Amino acid sequence: MSRIRFDNRVTRMLGVRVPIANSPMGGVVTPALAAAVAEAGAIGLIPGSLGAEEGARLIRATRELTAAPVGSNISVAFADERNADMLLELSVRFVTTSTGPVAPYTARLQAGGAKVFHVVTSLEAARRAADAGVDGLVVESTEGAGMRGADDVGMMVLLPTITGEIDLPVIAAGGIADGRSMAAAFALGAEGVQMGTRFVASAESAVHANFKQAIVEAKETDTLLMNRGQKSVRALRTATTAPFEADPGRDPLKELIRDVRRLYEQGDLTAGFASVGQVGGRIKEVLPAAEIIRRTVEEFDLIAGRLAGAYVRG
Ligand SMILES: Cc1cc2nc3c(=O)[nH]c(=O)nc-3n(C[C@H](O)[C@H](O)[C@H](O)COP(=O)(O)O)c2cc1C
Repeated sequence: MSRIRFDNRVTRMLGVRVPIANSPMGGVVTPALAAAVAEAGAIGLIPGSLGAEEGARLIRATRELTAAPVGSNISVAFADERNADMLLELSVRFVTTSTGPVAPYTARLQAGGAKVFHVVTSLEAARRAADAGVDGLVVESTEGAGMRGADDVGMMVLLPTITGEIDLPVIAAGGIADGRSMAAAFALGAEGVQMGTRFVASAESAVHANFKQAIVEAKETDTLLMNRGQKSVRALRTATTAPFEADPGRDPLKELIRDVRRLYEQGDLTAGFASVGQVGGRIKEVLPAAEIIRRTVEEFDLIAGRLAGAYVRG
């Protein structure tokens, strides 16, 4: 492991050594994946979109594998009160809230001792979250995989727009898969990164090898943003996405989870949407989660050092 030592608001607030999170992806993140990330000193996140019971099972199973803290997610669109109760009962100390309004869970989770970061896709949403008292933001740009909301701003603009205006720690999500892209996010004001697609193509991810291989083979142009400007979804371009390309007004959400289990478990890439971000085009091999963290930190160190050495102040 590189000798680099991170010290910023994200590492201090969350009590981690490495400010890199795996995305909390339902049906993808296994206890082995989250535990490997947490054991590497980074931010292991358990998905919250599968219901409170399954969330609790995953948290307990992860804790069997690591003594390091693990966080979780409340996917507001799919959640109910039991999700928050469960996280408090299990003393989860870091929660991201996504796919919905900021208000319902923040104060309750914070009163129970959790730090709450809300997922935002615009400056306006970031302002609302800041006003609601969140501890930090996950800033999600349009490059990323899966459900995206109505906004579709790229990371190069979205991140400095928000970090320039709002004084909260920010974890950047969307298009990040290595140390180079992490360094870019830090240059734009992030103090942490979250990677989704990169960890779908990890050894510990639950999805079928066909799905992982499709990411390895994908070009940066191989994903499609469906239902743009509304509740949009980014997925790998397949026969399943073709009707949405032909009819951009068609709502993909009804079909999002149509037969996603068959896709994840049996590797039939046309059984539902294969959520993949544009960064799939930069992912060239399936790697163990710990190796992803190790390489990312090492490359971050190298790239940041190169940048510092690339000019002389006169
Ligand atoms: C299969 C899949 C499921 C996801 N589920 C969730 C979720 O439940 N909650 C959430 O906040 N984000 C979810 N995400 C989005 C990721 O958190 C993340 O923002 C996105 O993948 C980052 O972009 P990247 O794929 O370019 O790394 C999911 C992403 C994928 C690929």
